[in-house]
Amino acid sequence: MTLDEAIRTRRSVRGFLPSEVPEPLLNEMFELAQWTPSNCNIQPWVPHVVSGPALRALAAEMGAAAEADLPFDPDWPADGKYQGVYRDRQYDAAARLYGAMGVERRDLVGRRTAYIRNLRCFDAPHAVFVFMRQPFDAREMTDVGMYAQTLMLVMTSRGIASCAQGALGLYTGIVRRHLCLPDDHRLMFGISFGYEDTSVAANNARTVRASIDDAVRFHR
Ligand SMILES: Cc1cc2nc3c(=O)[nH]c(=O)nc-3n(C[C@H](O)[C@H](O)[C@H](O)COP(=O)(O)O)c2cc1C
Repeated sequence: MTLDEAIRTRRSVRGFLPSEVPEPLLNEMFELAQWTPSNCNIQPWVPHVVSGPALRALAAEMGAAAEADLPFDPDWPADGKYQGVYRDRQYDAAARLYGAMGVERRDLVGRRTAYIRNLRCFDAPHAVFVFMRQPFDAREMTDVGMYAQTLMLVMTSRGIASCAQGALGLYTGIVRRHLCLPDDHRLMFGISFGYEDTSVAANNARTVRASIDDAVRFHR
């Protein structure tokens, strides 16, 4: 697969087969992602890959917390700042996803079920929780974001599906406890990954992008 093909075919997959990714392939993908650039080459990402019984226990507790409406404890609270065109894009992506799933806008039960599936890592056999240690903040988060995209493109090129999930950073206390991590390990998101289950309706969703006429300003 060429880089162009990987960029254009990567998409968020929200339903996975139970089969695990073989360990040599796991190692190969995470070794390749290490080549992500970063500020002063500090490589601030701290990925914790969780699989098998460890992930089942973690996902079950996060799912139960969501079902019980336990309060979130994110390291970076979301504050509803999407307005204007950003809100339009958010709505469009949600409409496409729920449309593919056959969940109507007023179907609050269907939406809640979809949200809880997030916390259960969409039944993926693996999830990587990408931490960054204090006192790093916005500058180093750009490095972590680049790491995530590099990793997801590497996965795509090897037939491994993924979904970056801010939802996996909603219950940081649970995640840190399961992984025995201190509070200085801060979590923005996780990535569920594995082999796509093509029978899951959510996986038929496709998003769009603004054209470069809208997005890019060329100066000379
Ligand atoms: C940092 C980040 C966090 C995300 N959080 C979630 C999430 O919590 N749940 C979810 O279903 N999708 C999540 N997504 C997936 C986005 O909705 C998706 O990338 C976007 O709609 C574009 O669609 P595509 O990935 O299929 O191209 C997240 C993506 C990123 C990059």
